[in-house]
Parts: sequence; C-alpha cells; structure tokens
Amino acid sequence: MAKILDDISRTFSEYLLIPRLTRKGQRADLVDLRTPLAALGKSSDKRFHINVPVVSACMQAVSGTSLSIALARQGGLSFIFCSQAIDTQAEMVRQVKAHKAGFVQSDSNATASMTLEEVMTLMASTGHSTVPVTHDGSATGKLEGIITDKDFWVYEDDLSHTVGEHMTPFKDVIHGEEGISLREANELLHRHKKDCLPVVDTQGHLSALVFKKDYEDHRRHPNELLDASKRLCVGAAINTHDFRERVPALLAAGADALCFDSSDGFTEYQMEGIQWIRDNYGDDVVIGGGNVVSAEGFDYLVQGPGVDFIKVGIGGGSICITREQKGVGRGQASALLEVSERRDAYFKETGRYIPICSDGGLGNDTQIVVALAMGADFVMMGRYFATTEESPTPKTSINGQVYKPYWGEGTLRAQNWQRYSEGMSTRKMVFEEGVDAFVPLAGPLAEVLETTLFKLRSTMVNVGAENLEQFREQAILTLVSEQSVVEGGTSSVFQFNRSREIDDGRWGNSN
Ligand code: IMP
Repeated sequence: MAKILDDISRTFSEYLLIPRLTRKGQRADLVDLRTPLAALGKSSDKRFHINVPVVSACMQAVSGTSLSIALARQGGLSFIFCSQAIDTQAEMVRQVKAHKAGFVQSDSNATASMTLEEVMTLMASTGHSTVPVTHDGSATGKLEGIITDKDFWVYEDDLSHTVGEHMTPFKDVIHGEEGISLREANELLHRHKKDCLPVVDTQGHLSALVFKKDYEDHRRHPNELLDASKRLCVGAAINTHDFRERVPALLAAGADALCFDSSDGFTEYQMEGIQWIRDNYGDDVVIGGGNVVSAEGFDYLVQGPGVDFIKVGIGGGSICITREQKGVGRGQASALLEVSERRDAYFKETGRYIPICSDGGLGNDTQIVVALAMGADFVMMGRYFATTEESPTPKTSINGQVYKPYWGEGTLRAQNWQRYSEGMSTRKMVFEEGVDAFVPLAGPLAEVLETTLFKLRSTMVNVGAENLEQFREQAILTLVSEQSVVEGGTSSVFQFNRSREIDDGRWGNSN
C-alpha cells in the first residue's frame, strides 16, 4: 500500500510572520538583499551571488533579452528559455552580455548627402534629435559629423540643402575613443556641456553613443548585477535532451549560470546531464537543478559533484495544470519547508550550503516574503515578470484593459518550436501541462520590482533582520485559520477609491 504523509500539503497564504524585536537604527533602506545562487563551502563566499533574491522563469513569455537586461539592472537574474533553437538562445545570451549600460548603438543615422527634409523625417519617426552622420549611413560607419535639430531652422532654411552643409564636421565633434569608461565619457559631456558623446574606434568608425541622461539612469541602478568584466549577468535554461550541444554554445556565448528546466528533476536523466557538465566543465559552472518537492529529491541532486542550487515546486505555477493532469505535486509551502530543513541539515553534515529557489505559484508580494522566510534563498517567477513592459510578448487590449499573453512551457504553443528547429524530434504531445492565458500589464519592471522589494525589506525590519540569512534564522511563522484570513482584510468599512488599485491587475485581489 502507498505511504500517506502525516502532514497536509500547505500553501504560502496559510502562514503569517510574527514580528520580532526591531532595533533602533534598523531601516528598510539599509537591509541587504544579496543572496547566493551557487553552492558555498563553509569558508567560501566567493562564488556567484545575486543582488536581489529574484530570478525570472525559464519561459518563452518571460525571459527574453529586454527582460533579462532590465532584471540584471535591478540586481536579479533571468534564465533565458531553452524552448528554442540552440543558436537563437545563445544569440540572446550574447545580446545581454553585449549590452553596455550607458553605451548604446546609434539607431538613427544619416549620410552627408541626405537632405534636411529627410533627416527631419528620420528625427520625427525615431524621436531622436541628435543624429550621427556616417559615410554609409550605418550605425558603425566612419563618423563624418553630427547633426542635431539645432543645426537648422525649419522655417528659414532651405530643406533641400544637404546634411553635410549643416552638420558639425567630425573635426569639431567632441568624441571619445573606444575603451573610454562611462565615467570618463560623462566627464567629457559635462566639461563640454554636451548631451551626447559619440565613441569611435581607432579607424574613426562609430561604435556607440553615450547620453547624459543614460548616465544618470545608470547611477540610479546601484544594484546592477555585473560580471568581472562589468557586463550584465544572465542565466540560461537547459534541458535533458540536448545538453551536450546546448551547454557548450551557451557557455561560449557568456551565460553566467545554467538551470535545468524540468517540472520533475528527480530523475536519472537530470543526473546524467549534471554529471556530463561537471566532467566537461568542472565545478566553476553554476548549475541549477530541479524541480523537487522532497528531501529525497534534494539528496539525489546534491550527490557527487552535484548542483549549485535547487529549485523547489511542482504544480504551483499560475499557468500550471500538472496537478490536475497527472496528480503529481505538493503544496508549495510544505515542499519548501521540507527541502529547506534538509538543506540546513546537509549543511551541518557536510559544510556545503546549497541555495534553494522557490519556483512558481507566488501570487502576491506577501507570498514572496513568506517563501524567503521559510528558507528560500531566492524565488523564481513567471507571471510576475510576464506582466511587465519588458516581457517579450506584445501588449494586447481586451475590453479597454491592456494585457500581455502568458503561456506555460508545457503547452502546445511553447513546445511547437521543435517543429521549426532542424534535427529536433517532433514528439507528439499527448496532453498539455500548462495553459495559454493573458495577464494584465503592470508597468516597467523597475517600478514593479521596487515596490515588492521595499515591502520585503520592511517586513525584514519587522523581524529584526538586516539580511536574508538573519531573516530565515529569526523568522517565526504561524498557521492561519480561515477566520483569521478574513480578519486580516478590511472589515465593516467602505472604500470608494480602492477599486482601481485592486483591479490594476498585477496581483488581482491581494488577499
Ligand atoms: P508562476 O510564477 O506562478 O507563473 O510560475 C512559473 C513557473 O511555473 C515556472 O518557473 C515553471 O516552474 C512552472 N511552469 C512553466 N510552464 C509550465 C507549464 O506549462 N506547466 C506547469 N508548470 C509550468
């Protein structure tokens, strides 16, 4: 007969945190959210950390290039989805690594022979008032000058004149040489009272533009997650089918961490993949494994050289129907508590600390806080990021509300990529484990995440914690009854102005 566990499968919203002593001087803005993403030895603190405890899900509708850049700029990490051809995934990784905060490739360029009228049309269509003039009109052509909307007067000048007659010629353009740092570029801009600095290579070809406003933006992102060469960090998802080809391509493209994307990672297939990566690339490559929901699954994946971090969660995702379809899964809180307890015991036994990621089913900011209190070192989210401006899906208006499409990786839609990829098997999908849906647009990632992290920091102060490790150690949680959930909402009052806030959609009703 099957074994029946004594405990009930529980979810995050069944728990509340009990405040602990907040000491004088403790403030939300002083809380440190840095957290490990790679396994740590007792004495080693040198491996991969992220600056805020959130990563984006390995999903087509979530972790594209723009979102990966936006999240790394806030200190988190994205895992670019592997449900695509190897070369396109590697190219996305390359694009994130090539993104140089503050240095942008010029996307409006002119030639000296263009007319003022043509350049005006270009300025109107791109919204840019500063246009580099290159010998071939490309973003990397030899720089011949710069034309701005201040170099001609629309009402007085003959608009059939050429750009060459009105531009500032290269000899008079204040510019930087390739290799210039962002700080040096901005010192030049400041000294010469300019808003835009072209950067050229040794042949005089345009390589980038630096805008004063971007520098200010850069200063507003003190948490940016950068590698040793000051490039943004990015992770990449892998699968158990083609890791022998995919992993080398992703590492060559510069991926900072890899993560198996699987609804059930307690398998010999995943162990074979981990072993292959360790045999071929050693211990320096950061590998995430999972998903698991039990101590038994944790123990399996940390065997031998093992994984660096473990994802916990089966069946809790917002678009997930695994539990309905297969009868497999576990309440996310129960799963996380069991795996965290085992992780702590394993650390005592071996001196090896394995970070844990709570993956899926985080329906509001409070649940993120509870997951981190219960032992997660960081959380992985799909829906949360799918609602942001930077997610890769188009905005769609439905009944006057703006939505974005969001679908599971276990849908026919996500798995269809294999049909178009040479050499991939087109295994017939017998049933789907996810749904194809829409989520309401919440706004720019930076704004959405700022609110969440501020709430997290405030709660940590309530618990008297200055960092996530203290938070986990000091947290005391209590199970709530249905009646205390009701008590936690507002009661016996009318709120006439809150309907927009509640309906703005990011979390739906936050109870
Ligand atoms: P969310 O944050 O609740 O939207 O959950 C995202 C997580 O759901 C992902 O990180 C995956 O672990 C999981 N997931 C993604 N696609 C599917 C699917 O099609 N079926 C089941 N789970 C999925």
